[in-house]
Amino acid sequence: MNILILGSGGREHSFAWAVMQNPKCHTLIAAPGNAGISQIATCVDIDIEDGNAVADLANEKSIDFVIIGPEAPLAAGVADTLRARGIPVFGPSKQAAQLETSKSFTKEICMAAGVPTAPAKHFLDPSHAKAFLAEGTYPIVIKADGLAAGKGVVVASDTATALTAIDKIFDDPSNRHTGVLIEDYIEGQEVSYFILCDGETILPIGTAQDHKRIGDGDTGPNTGGMGAYSPAPVLTPNLEKEVLNRIISPTIAEMYRRGTPYQGVLYAGLMIRNAKPFLIEYNARFGDPEAQVLMMRLGAQAFDLFHAVVEKRLCETRVNWADDHALTVVLATKGYPGEFQKGSEIKRLEDVKESSLQMCFHAGTREQNGKYFTNGGRVLNATARGSSLQEARDSAYKIIESIDWPDGIYRQDIGWRALK
Ligand code: AMP
Ligand code: GLY
Repeated sequence: MNILILGSGGREHSFAWAVMQNPKCHTLIAAPGNAGISQIATCVDIDIEDGNAVADLANEKSIDFVIIGPEAPLAAGVADTLRARGIPVFGPSKQAAQLETSKSFTKEICMAAGVPTAPAKHFLDPSHAKAFLAEGTYPIVIKADGLAAGKGVVVASDTATALTAIDKIFDDPSNRHTGVLIEDYIEGQEVSYFILCDGETILPIGTAQDHKRIGDGDTGPNTGGMGAYSPAPVLTPNLEKEVLNRIISPTIAEMYRRGTPYQGVLYAGLMIRNAKPFLIEYNARFGDPEAQVLMMRLGAQAFDLFHAVVEKRLCETRVNWADDHALTVVLATKGYPGEFQKGSEIKRLEDVKESSLQMCFHAGTREQNGKYFTNGGRVLNATARGSSLQEARDSAYKIIESIDWPDGIYRQDIGWRALK
């Protein structure tokens, strides 16, 4: 099959790496891709939020299957356009992707389906939102209702911080018609849970834990994610059953009942408090860097699973799990998630021995005349698999030692919660 992957991050490099190993894959194209993806696929620079441009490319290249990586094309309805034009696509419809793109929609689904989540109130008027703060208990969580590229959530420990957060959300014109959610803070341990769904059947494909803060010991500002590991032992088999029965299944059933069945990967951000799971948020895509550890563990079968979703064959599909662990460490540019410079050279990348046990996935990279340069905040993902988490961790950090990039920063403590 000729396969097209949309996106340019480490997540999409890990898809490309897994898909290429599958014998069903004949040609691989990525749009726009990055320097790592270009080693195994042809990269084409188009606007991936323009459904017709994507469909035109797919027709021109005789593409049989499209995999959508990030949320922006889902929010723009690219999956709908591709389906309407007869092109098989792994990714939910715009309406189903509202589970990620509208937090108030998700709260409403949770109410209707009885899914445990933090109680929240939605405001379109900033003065009403601010007045509501007087009744709140702290910490309190302030969220932009729409997509905010991971920057729309503030956990406020006092009224002044909450007021500033509300002002900041309404300062952005794109938030004015979607508004703000104010919700109760849930204390606990976070875990990411991933399932595939073909509209009806649910197939769990693993757990992971992200490390959102920039600094060791979970300190400093939030980032897109500085490292991840899978599986995450905090989600015990009993808890997983509860997550499926009380959170995932009712959500999928409610989406089906409304005539907007969910097809694709659903990523549930959960909080475990006193051995009970609560839904914090849904994403309509894989996490980045969580995808990198899931792809490391799934390998070539990842494509068979995506294919089964699109052909609605999940009820006859199984995941072949090895008893393994994977861990990824994100290398970012000095200054990230604040201001940073692009264009510093990364040397000795070729010294990384790539195998089914270790990969250095690229995120913000660019290649020029055989040399690699940085092209973003999160740049590389040193990713490894092992029979224990410690083994995977040791291998991932060894990958970093072999790379020569003085401008790179990374956390030293990825996996600490599971290893402590
Ligand atoms: P989100 O973008 O919804 O994932 O939120 C970003 C981060 O804010 C989450 O990963 C949590 O760490 C935190 N967060 C969001 N909602 C809550 C909540 N109700 N209680 C505690 N922490 C939360
Ligand atoms: N790593 C968090 C996310 O992809 O949303």
